[in-house]
Amino acid sequence: MKVSIIGSGYVGLVSGVCLAKLGHKVTIVDIDEDKIDMIGKGMSPIYEQGLDELLAQVHIEITSDYRKISNSDIILLCVSTPLSEEGDISLQQVTKATEQTTEALKGKRKYWVVAMRSTLPPGTTEEVIIPILERTGKKLGRDFGVCVSPEFLREGRAIHDFMNPDRLIVGESDKKAGSMLLNLYSSFDVPILRTTIKTAEMIKLASNTFLATKICFINEIGNICKQLGIDSYVVAKGMGFDKRIGSEFLNTGIGFGGSCLPKDLKILIVKAKKMGYEAKLLQEVADRNEKQALRVVELLKNHTPLKGAVIGLLGLAFKPGTDDARGSQAIRIVHTLLSEGAKVRAYDPAAMENFKKLFPQIDYVSKEEVLNCNAIIIATEWEEFKDLDYRGKVVIDGRRILKAKEARVYEGVCW
Ligand code: UDX
Repeated sequence: MKVSIIGSGYVGLVSGVCLAKLGHKVTIVDIDEDKIDMIGKGMSPIYEQGLDELLAQVHIEITSDYRKISNSDIILLCVSTPLSEEGDISLQQVTKATEQTTEALKGKRKYWVVAMRSTLPPGTTEEVIIPILERTGKKLGRDFGVCVSPEFLREGRAIHDFMNPDRLIVGESDKKAGSMLLNLYSSFDVPILRTTIKTAEMIKLASNTFLATKICFINEIGNICKQLGIDSYVVAKGMGFDKRIGSEFLNTGIGFGGSCLPKDLKILIVKAKKMGYEAKLLQEVADRNEKQALRVVELLKNHTPLKGAVIGLLGLAFKPGTDDARGSQAIRIVHTLLSEGAKVRAYDPAAMENFKKLFPQIDYVSKEEVLNCNAIIIATEWEEFKDLDYRGKVVIDGRRILKAKEARVYEGVCW
């Protein structure tokens, strides 16, 4: 099929390259000329395992000209929906992209489908997106269809997750639209749930919110285990044998970060509040996760005064395998260390450039220089941190790098 992707971020670019790999004719549209230039040269502007290799194997058209989408059967909207300052979702990019898509398709005769991959509060596609798509007189159901096609891609594993979905969720304005969208994914033999547009929006948010809640839960257990001198990883292992619990997302530590889990949690809380429902459990998950990051600072204080100390930080990315520092728990840790009068020397194999935009005032050094600090906090479980020499050091471990147990002083946040 002929597919256009609006947005070349990690969802749009990964979706485009994978759909091209699956044999579809793909055009990617973005407004960022630098990104277009990079992708046009076969270089990925994002740090995603295997993406450069896949980009070299497929042919995709990359352009800033929306008119190029006019002969597409399906248009996937993959622009980001970040949180505004007030913590509400910003629909600015997705409404702008929808307006430009609508304009580009006003002369189109052949039926087409617009599928939303951007995360949206339940009800947004029907209340905001579809009215824009009908502005030029085109009629939903007659001239075009609309779907919600949530993605469940993890950063760093996005290609694997795209090519190996656990399920396909299709929110459809009508059967014709849903069937056309499913043609895109015909090579996947996985459970398919066809449902309403609003339900599909909710499935995405509820899935991410559940993952955040599961992490928050196991950290609560981990904090209790820490007081009892119990290794929470062993507890999690024992729990995980129960199929109803599952063994994944039971790793205790400094909590969840990233551009999705914290944001999606907030989107649902705010949406519920607007309808007069206080999502107290979800709010507690968000609040406790913020506090969880700071437990490593509290543990550190038991071993060294912070004022005037030089604290080393191993890991800035919100998780290993990505250069993304958005929503990283390291942000809260650095902010607190600085407010307590400590100096910070940080190392991360991929995220230092991104983190520097947030904290230009700290030092970005080598792993070895971090190890020469008064004390070290481990905030991201990069593989290379498992080969360092921690002997004689003071280490507070937020991400279970057990090699660090050789330190003179070692404390695990939940073990
Ligand atoms: C998440 C969802 O997993 C994915 O399905 C969705 O499409 C996008 O959001 P991502 O944000 O890339 O993916 O990261 P993920 O691997 O889920 O980890 C999120 C955060 O939780 C990371 O900071 C990670 O360190 C933390 N985490 C994860 C834990 O603290 N414990 C765990 O057991 C698992």
